[in-house]
Parts: sequence; structure tokens; C-alpha cells
Amino acid sequence: MRMTAAVMYEQGLPTPYAGSKPFIIEDVDLEGPGEGEVLVEVTAAGLCHSDLSQVAGLRKRKLPVVGGHEGAGIVREVGRGVTRMKPGDHVVMTVATGCGHCRPCTDIRPALCEGVSESRSQGALPNGMIRLSRGGKPVYHYSGVSSFAQYAVTIPNTLIKIDPAIPLDIAAMFGCAVVTGAGAVLNTARVRPGQNVAAFGLGGVGLNAVMASRISGASEIIGIDINEGKFALAKELGCTHTFLATDPDLVAKAKDLTRGGVDFSFEISGSKPAMTSAYAITRKGGEVVCVGLGATGEMYQYPHTSLVAEEKAIRGSLMGGGVADRDIPLLLRLFQDGKMPVDRLKSSTMGFEELNVSLDKLDGGSVVRQILLPHG
Ligand SMILES: NC(=O)c1ccc[n+]([C@@H]2O[C@H](COP(=O)([O-])OP(=O)(O)OC[C@H]3O[C@@H](n4cnc5c(N)ncnc54)[C@H](O)[C@@H]3O)[C@@H](O)[C@H]2O)c1
Ligand SMILES: [Zn+2]
Ligand SMILES: [Zn+2]
Repeated sequence: MRMTAAVMYEQGLPTPYAGSKPFIIEDVDLEGPGEGEVLVEVTAAGLCHSDLSQVAGLRKRKLPVVGGHEGAGIVREVGRGVTRMKPGDHVVMTVATGCGHCRPCTDIRPALCEGVSESRSQGALPNGMIRLSRGGKPVYHYSGVSSFAQYAVTIPNTLIKIDPAIPLDIAAMFGCAVVTGAGAVLNTARVRPGQNVAAFGLGGVGLNAVMASRISGASEIIGIDINEGKFALAKELGCTHTFLATDPDLVAKAKDLTRGGVDFSFEISGSKPAMTSAYAITRKGGEVVCVGLGATGEMYQYPHTSLVAEEKAIRGSLMGGGVADRDIPLLLRLFQDGKMPVDRLKSSTMGFEELNVSLDKLDGGSVVRQILLPHG
């Protein structure tokens, strides 16, 4: 079929993106679904900071590529052999699932799946197929999802069946922002009642870490950002205190408040200075959980003697470090019960024509999650 999609031909174009237009909105061809594949009508797709990093060229991708890695939609057709999905099913699209067979998958760490890492770097679906093209030339899949399009062909592993009563523009955010931010707290850190936490970066992912910390029963939940405009919503969603990242007394204030430092510092801004502060405000025996992503190969520094003598830990958390098939339905249930008001993170909806300007808005920090509606 022929459909409209947002295609990126070049990374690293200059800002403002409204002028340089990293995403070209055009017709592309979509084949399939072949055996073991599913055709999804994409009804909503969230814009994540990782999309912005790809546009900026911080992490290289195979080009041209149809963007987007979180979304939601409705199954329209299933290929031969697909039994888990049927036309009409509502689904969340996510990159958080694995093949089920490799070493990380059998260790129940599907976000680290070897097969998915490989297919992602090849711009292919997890089954190795490329179903997108333009003028007979291949167009690549972004993380096996490519949700900045009216339709997507993918494999059932990247889709989580959901209650059709859930609005799809809210469901879209569960594919990355929610599963990543909440998972860092619930799976990677396993925050317990009474512990103290800090979240650096109160964006789409960070605010989910804040909501999950509240659900975990954390005592102090300290929100830190360079943008004061993020504080009101952060407090509404669970922060007990908010500080500017640039506050020269940040470390002293946070340590004072928590009698020696937080149990878990979540770095969710992708900023190097934030990582330094996150380490500094973590108490002896505490952990820094790293979610924010910078450029490939970028080196960070930490005080090694302190790490050893204070038994601190620095840990990565990819896509929430959990199992999407288990976690996304659970998190959706928390949303439906009013415990995770993810709808509060939706800043606006947009059509394809606003996608490039929405990159500037996310870059400027004035918005949380902007939702693309590919069918207008
Ligand atoms: N680990 C993963 O699996 C995973 C998944 C999704 C996103 N990410 C990464 O997580 C980060 C956050 O993504 P998002 O979509 O929430 O982004 P976002 O743009 O919505 O939010 C980032 C927030 O960080 C703030 N910030 C910037 N510099 C800061 C600093 N020095 N100190 C404190 N706050 C600062 C910004 O003002 C903004 O509020 C990005 O780096 C993204 O690439 C990682
Ligand atoms: Zn993301
Ligand atoms: Zn695997």
C-alpha cells in the first residue's frame, strides 16, 4: 500500500528544525504483512527525546528511515501464522520486547535482546525483513517500529494488546516514556516504601519515574530540572521537592533533606552535569540509575575512591529493564485506576506538518509529550 510517513534522509541538520526540516513528509510504499507479520493502522505516536537525539545525529542510524518508536494503533491485517493478534485489536507499539530465545531474553532481560539489537542497527524488522520502500529503494525501519507513519508492518513481539477503552493517544506513551520511566523505578531500582529518590530531568520519561516512585511509597521524591516550568506538573504527579539543576546549593540541600543523600538518583536528562550531581546526592550504599542517553562513545567521569569506599553503584536501565508484555498491561491498569495519570503528560496533538516544529519545542523544553496523529 501507499501511505504518508515522516522520512529522515540526513542526521545532524542545524536547528531550528522548522527551517532545516529533518523529517520529509511524503508517500512511501509498505509491503506485507508477510508470514508472521502484522499490519497496524497507527493512530497516535509520541515524540521522545531519543527521536530528537537521532535527528541531531548523536547516535547513527541507517538512512533513510521512517521515524518514531512509541505508538498505538489498531491491527488491520495479520500474516500467515499469526495467532496472538487479530484485526480490530488495539495495540501499543514498543521496542521493549525481545526474541525470547537469546541469552539476555532467557535471562528475562528482553530489552537487551541480541537479535533486536542487530536488526535495529540494520534498520530492519526483528525478523530481518524491510517492508518500507520509496521509488523501489529501501526505506529503513526505526527500532522495528516506525510509528511516524499512517501504517506499520511489524512482528507481534513489538505489539502489546490493550483494552480498547483506553484512548489510543494516551496508550501511545506507554510504548517508551511510561515503560522506561516507571520501569527504571519498579524493575531496575525496585524502590521500597520509605526510600528517598531524586529524578534529574522532568520530561516525558522523568515524570513517569516520579509517578512510579510515588506508587512505590518513596518518602522524599526530589525533582531536578534546568527548566522551572516543569516543576508545577512534577509536584502534582508526586515530587515532594523541586530544585533547579543550576542551584549551587543543590547537593547540600538534597543531602540535608534526606539526611545524607537519596537511595536512588535517576538520571533522565541525558546531560553530563546532571550525572555529576546525581552521583553527588546519592547516599552511601545508594545507586545512580542512568536512563538519559547522550552521544555514542561519549565518556563520563566519576570519583572512583568514593564509589568503592561508599559502596555506591552506577547502573544503566534500558526501556525500563523489565518485560513489556507484563509491564505495559500492568502500567495501563495503574493508569485506568487513576494511580498513574499519564494523560497529564500529553502537551498537544499534531499532524505531520507540525512534526519538525515540534522537535524545536521539545528541544526548547517547553513541552512534555507531543502526540502525532498520522491520520489528522
Ligand atoms: N534508557 C532508555 O531506554 C531511554 C528511553 C527513552 C528515552 N531515553 C532518554 O531519556 C532522556 C529523557 O527523555 P525524555 O523524552 O523524557 O526527554 P524530555 O526532553 O521530555 O525531558 C528531558 C528533561 O531534562 C531536562 N534537563 C536538561 N538538562 C538538564 C540538566 N542538566 N539537569 C536536569 N534536567 C535537565 C529538560 O529541561 C527536560 O525537562 C533522553 O536522554 C532520552 O534519549 C532513554
Ligand atoms: Zn523513547
Ligand atoms: Zn532475544
